[in-house]
Amino acid sequence: MDKIGIMDLGSQYTHLIARRIRELGIYSEILPYNVSLQELRTLSPKGIILSGGPNSVYELNSPKLPSRFFNFIREEQIPVLGICYGLHLIVHQLNGEIEAHDKKEYGKVELDILDIDELFHTLDSPQIVWMSHGDQVKSLPLGFKILAKTNNCPIAAYKSQDSLFYGVQFHPEVAHTPNGKIILKNFIERVVKAKKGWILEDWIEQSIEQIKMTVGSKNRVILGLSGGVDSSVVALLLHKAIGDRLHSIFVNNGVLRKNEVDEVQEIFKNKLGFKNFHFIDAEDYFLNKLKNISDPEEKRRIIGHSFIEVFENQTKELEKKYPDIKFLAQGTIYPDRVETSTTSDTSSKIKSHHNLTLPENMSLKIIEPLRDLYKDEVRKIGLKLGLPAEIIQRHPFPGPGLAVRIVGPIDKQKLEILRNADEILIEEIKKAMLYDSLWQAFCVFLPLKTVGVMGDYRTYEYICSIRIVESLDAMTANFAKLNWDLLEKISSRIVNEVKGINRVVYDISNKPPSTIEYE
Ligand code: XMP
Repeated sequence: MDKIGIMDLGSQYTHLIARRIRELGIYSEILPYNVSLQELRTLSPKGIILSGGPNSVYELNSPKLPSRFFNFIREEQIPVLGICYGLHLIVHQLNGEIEAHDKKEYGKVELDILDIDELFHTLDSPQIVWMSHGDQVKSLPLGFKILAKTNNCPIAAYKSQDSLFYGVQFHPEVAHTPNGKIILKNFIERVVKAKKGWILEDWIEQSIEQIKMTVGSKNRVILGLSGGVDSSVVALLLHKAIGDRLHSIFVNNGVLRKNEVDEVQEIFKNKLGFKNFHFIDAEDYFLNKLKNISDPEEKRRIIGHSFIEVFENQTKELEKKYPDIKFLAQGTIYPDRVETSTTSDTSSKIKSHHNLTLPENMSLKIIEPLRDLYKDEVRKIGLKLGLPAEIIQRHPFPGPGLAVRIVGPIDKQKLEILRNADEILIEEIKKAMLYDSLWQAFCVFLPLKTVGVMGDYRTYEYICSIRIVESLDAMTANFAKLNWDLLEKISSRIVNEVKGINRVVYDISNKPPSTIEYE
């Protein structure tokens, strides 16, 4: 299978580049910029893309490519496309010149195409492209040719005479470059000449075979099933591979959404026929531990630890009955495992996100069938495996659940109020056919009582905040500019139907500076 290596020079878009290539039907893998030639040889990429990055080639510790990289490329005849900082590096390391330009280009810019062969095949000139750079090329290495320019940037795209090195100053991977996908496609199909081989149907078959081989014909596998997309798809794959030797553990942690406990059981036990589906109702255990806790990080920690405890105990019980339990399956996906932006370390810990790693002292071997996949690929596979749409299309839901959607300490009464409000919101958003186009829509419980009036009575009740955002990857998000009539309907239904709430507010904050969840 033809593969593309994406060398990460610290761009926030590295995963996006890799996803774009996979959308073209070609397998792509992210590599650190200082990957060894040995590892490159093992991957044996048919083409390489150098990501952008925040640095300048003249900074002392800015990332550089190993000097033997260029010989390797020539020996193996592997075409390379440099994006932004990647374009600078090729020029800099092949003795061309990069300069800091006084006019920084940022945002949408018109690109004049001087050569429509290869990279810009089928595109008209000018094209709108997304720029974000201070440095630019002053002079090209010997034998390089200019392919495009902008008003402020005379060398905005180039190729080398031997057709091995290509560069674009703009970002073809982002949606703000409307024809960026065509430029990447041209690189893959016309320059690299990679053949399509990344086909999800094949992946499913191979993955099932692989699981069968790894687990063997007698051993059993244990899995923490949350009802989210990733763990559900793992469950289905395993069930197809080893049938009822899969033991799924589903824990009610007391902070799930309305009806979720019943729905998940209905789907897996009844619809999909999972026999070894173990439901543990630990609501009281979790809620007791969470009593009077208001610090968000503490809530996350308690929920994480309690889950591990409950899961471990259940596993021990099952092991007594089934000594053949030898594996623990996890729903880890590619972005969980491959962290990018290795060249700058400026990000601080905002929330102790992302999900639990299970205890290392469990003497089980880990299997992670989705470890090389992106979320959209997991969704497509789920669909092909027959996972119901209500699971596949479901908005993301945080591991610590409703606990981080109730500001301050949580209890059963607040949870009940929040669940009822949230159910109405989702119902109305679905009725308005908006659910699938939104990243997330949910209610938040604010522990503030304010005065209201209902009929002739004064009320003194809590506030519900509605959070509805559009986003591509949760890194940034905008609040959805919904129709006022719809918001009015949601608000009046919540106030009228949910006991305990007499005021609804709409959250009009974007991320950044706010986050999507409240805690
Ligand atoms: P924030 O609130 O950081 O959330 O803007 C970004 C995205 O991550 C989800 N989220 C979580 N997901 N475990 C998860 O699996 C968590 O602890 C967690 N916290 C936030 C959030 O719903 C949003 O989509």
